[in-house]
Amino acid sequence: MIKTLYDNVCLKATIVSDTHIDEKHPVKIVPMYLLMRALGGAKKIDADAFITVGDTTSRGSVKNWQMARECFKKVPDAAKKIILTIGNHDGWCDGEFSDAMNEYYRAYKDICKREINTPYFSENINGYYFICIGTDADSGCEATISDEQMLWFRNEMNKAGETGNPIFVFCHQSLNQRHGLPRTWDRHEDPNRPLTDGGIGDRSDEVAGILKSYKNVFYFSGHSHMGLCGEDMKKAEGYSTFEDEDGVTLINLPSLSCGNHHGEMQGLGIGIQLEIYKDKVVLRPKNYISGKFITKLNIKDKKPYYEIIL
Ligand SMILES: [Fe+2]
Repeated sequence: MIKTLYDNVCLKATIVSDTHIDEKHPVKIVPMYLLMRALGGAKKIDADAFITVGDTTSRGSVKNWQMARECFKKVPDAAKKIILTIGNHDGWCDGEFSDAMNEYYRAYKDICKREINTPYFSENINGYYFICIGTDADSGCEATISDEQMLWFRNEMNKAGETGNPIFVFCHQSLNQRHGLPRTWDRHEDPNRPLTDGGIGDRSDEVAGILKSYKNVFYFSGHSHMGLCGEDMKKAEGYSTFEDEDGVTLINLPSLSCGNHHGEMQGLGIGIQLEIYKDKVVLRPKNYISGKFITKLNIKDKKPYYEIIL
C-alpha cells in the first residue's frame, strides 16, 4: 500500500474532476481508461472516498452513464464511498434538464450505492462532512443555486461547523474570479470576457460568505480545465490551483481527461490525494497514469503538496 505523508491518517480520498466520459470522444476508451486508473489509484491506498467534482460525463446521456458504470464495475470497491458531484455537462442531454438529472440520479444509485434526488447532498465520512452543491437548473455553464438549496447549504455548513472538524465542499464551478478566472476560462484569452465567466454564477458572493463563516473549509472545483499550478504561477501570473482566501482553501482541479490550459502542468491524468489528520490536512497532486505523486511543482512553501495545520 502507498504510504501517506504522515502516520495516523484519519481519512484518505482520491479526488478527480472533469472525467468527461463520452461516447462521441474520438477515442472513447481514453477518458474511461483515465477514470479507471484513478479508481485503481484509490483502491491502492484503500481510500475512504473517491470523489469526482463534476462533468463525470460530457453529456448526461444514458449511453455515457452506462460507460461510466462500466468503469466503476471494472474497478470494484475502489473506495469505501463514491461521490459524484454534478457538473454542467452532466445536466445536458438530448432531452430536458430533468431527463439528464434523472439519469444522473439513476447512475448515482448504481455507482455510489446510495440514493439522491437533488443536486445537493452531503456525506459524513469518519466524522468529516463532505458537502456537494450544484446547479438546480440548466443555466448554461454557470450554476443556478435555488433558495431552497442555499438554505440547505447554510444548515449543512452549520452542522458541519459544530463538529469542529475541517469541512470539505465540492462544487463543479469555482467561485467567480478565482483561480485566474475569467482569463483562465478558456485556452484562448479574451480581454472582453464577462468577469463572471467560468464561475459559479450570481450567488458566488453568498456562497463565499457562508464558506468564510467557518474554520478550516476546503472548497473544491473543476470546470475550467486549468492545468495544475503552484505557488510559482501565483507569483508570476496571480493565480493557482490552490488559493487561500480569508482562511478558506480553494482548490481548482485540472480535467482528468481533457487537454488542460493555463497551467504549469497541462497533461492528462492529474488528480489530488487528500489526507486528513487530527491536526492537519494535506493535498497531494498525483498523476494517476503513472501512479506517482507530482514532485516537480512548488505547491506551497517550496514543497510539492499543500499542507494546512489545523
Ligand atoms: Fe468540464
